[in-house]
Amino acid sequence: MSSEFSPIDKAKFVAAKRAVDYVDDGMRVGLGTGSTAAWMVKMLGELVRDEGLKIKAVPTSNRTAQLARDVGIDVFTLDEVKWLDLTIDGADEFDPHLNLIKGGGGALLQEKIVATASDQMVVISDASKSVETLGAFPLPVEVVKFGWQTTKELIEECLSNVNVLGSAVSLRLQNDAPMLTDEGHYILDLHLKRIENARELSLILNQVPGVVENGLFLDIADAIVIGHGDGRVEVRDINNGTVENEQIDILLNENLFADIED
Ligand code: A5P
Repeated sequence: MSSEFSPIDKAKFVAAKRAVDYVDDGMRVGLGTGSTAAWMVKMLGELVRDEGLKIKAVPTSNRTAQLARDVGIDVFTLDEVKWLDLTIDGADEFDPHLNLIKGGGGALLQEKIVATASDQMVVISDASKSVETLGAFPLPVEVVKFGWQTTKELIEECLSNVNVLGSAVSLRLQNDAPMLTDEGHYILDLHLKRIENARELSLILNQVPGVVENGLFLDIADAIVIGHGDGRVEVRDINNGTVENEQIDILLNENLFADIED
């Protein structure tokens, strides 16, 4: 790997590389969104092109779909495949129980639908996203455009009744305009600092009529591959309670490192 890659990039790379071991020939695989997932998609693309790996891939965003096609992976809709063997995706935060905050890239809705429709979800992350209690990363909530300001007020009211440290809510912008998700919705970011009861918060948020889904992924992930900048990976499996440490080679591969933009 070239020296211009930061330790975080290397950590994401090795996490993705180890997670690709979970993919077997013939599997139906959900492809996550974000910079870590982009490594994984590129690596799968190599296996498809060079080793004849056959998978049915369901992307979790338009940009992952585009990347997958670019690297030679056949892309299917969830409606075509219906149920998946495995989804590999990144996260913005994870706690010791493998509960997650996701949606930093704005793809939480499709990500949650796809992960929930999978026998197994494997998270790939660098170690910096590990927290004892979720909430330092602003919680993304996808809301419909119609009446979004009323929805925001209702969410603020909800927050005054739950045990969180912060209560600021901001509309996510892109180029000075509200950011639109792939489903044509807006994202509200909830700056909560600390979420004492993620389960309660998730239920309460999803009861607000304008809320489509929130970025708390609770009891969805089965395993996590945590990458470190020196090539170490820790694989935690929450179902069988195992923790394994491995060393992954970081080899320079021109094809793989070309034009990663995510
Ligand atoms: C996308 O909406 C998110 O859920 C991503 O999975 C998350 O933001 C992780 O992204 P990175 O791998 O780029 O850190």
